[in-house]
Amino acid sequence: MKVTVVGAGFVGMTCAQRLAEQEVAENIVLIDVLEGRPQGIALDINQAAAVEGYQALVTGTNDPKDTYGSDLFIMTAGLPRKPGMDRSDLVEVNGKIINAVAAYIQEGSPEARVIVVSNPLDTMVYLMAEKLGFPKGRVVGMAGVLDSARMAFFIAEKNRGGIADTRCMVLGGHGDSMVPVPQFSTVDGVSIQALLPDSEIDEINTRTQHGGAEIVNLLKTGSAFYAPSAAAVAMAKSILRDENRLLPTAAFLDGQYGLKDIYMGVPCVLGKNGVERIVDLELDDAGRQSLHASADAIRADLDTLREKGLM
Ligand code: LAC
Repeated sequence: MKVTVVGAGFVGMTCAQRLAEQEVAENIVLIDVLEGRPQGIALDINQAAAVEGYQALVTGTNDPKDTYGSDLFIMTAGLPRKPGMDRSDLVEVNGKIINAVAAYIQEGSPEARVIVVSNPLDTMVYLMAEKLGFPKGRVVGMAGVLDSARMAFFIAEKNRGGIADTRCMVLGGHGDSMVPVPQFSTVDGVSIQALLPDSEIDEINTRTQHGGAEIVNLLKTGSAFYAPSAAAVAMAKSILRDENRLLPTAAFLDGQYGLKDIYMGVPCVLGKNGVERIVDLELDDAGRQSLHASADAIRADLDTLREKGLM
């Protein structure tokens, strides 16, 4: 198994570390345009194997040819937000990077499955899929697993524990208009609506929607990376090991949830072909309206990409 992580920033390097430690692939390539950085991180992770005992080998490189023949890509390259910035402010600069990376994935790894992490997520995964021309199910975006993890932590905080049994569902775009769905969020199967008062659930929903910005504001430079890399690697494992886990995933919609020709976060079964199945949940009117508002926000970013000639 060969997995390439594109981008040796904090998200990319922690993805490479998790892939190695969990032995998701024996051959991990970390590629970045910065000379020395991916090579240095690869050496460091490979040396840690002497202590941790994992068998994977990481290759750091600046040469796209080293990625050829990859079974899966995790695309993390791109600029992160600065405090006060919206993910949408990154459309142009990160759109150019997606264009460059798609060219070498298409050239050297035509059978690969691709998980996009770069922001603004739903727009970047659409652009990646458009440029690659692969079957749409093989190109997905990571956001829902991260947003759901944030929600789970906030619930566990209120419950004073139990995070391992807390499973959440956050749908829609990876932006302020994301849609936490409390009715599909449970602690060991028990709805959080039976466990927490509405006021606390509202508070958790709002904090989840702004969970990324909360960390950006605290860090001052850069954005979150531990939970994003954990989320991307969980998706990679479900695909590479054909685990068929049901995970919220930015997937291409063709009528599901009343939406067409858009990538957005919905519950998906992830297996060897990427998206094996999209689960079209019955939402109440408010939930459906929120999803459609989230789709409108994504479409605005897609329009910007077209205006800038990047798609
Ligand atoms: C976040 C960024 C990575 O949500 O989008 O932390």
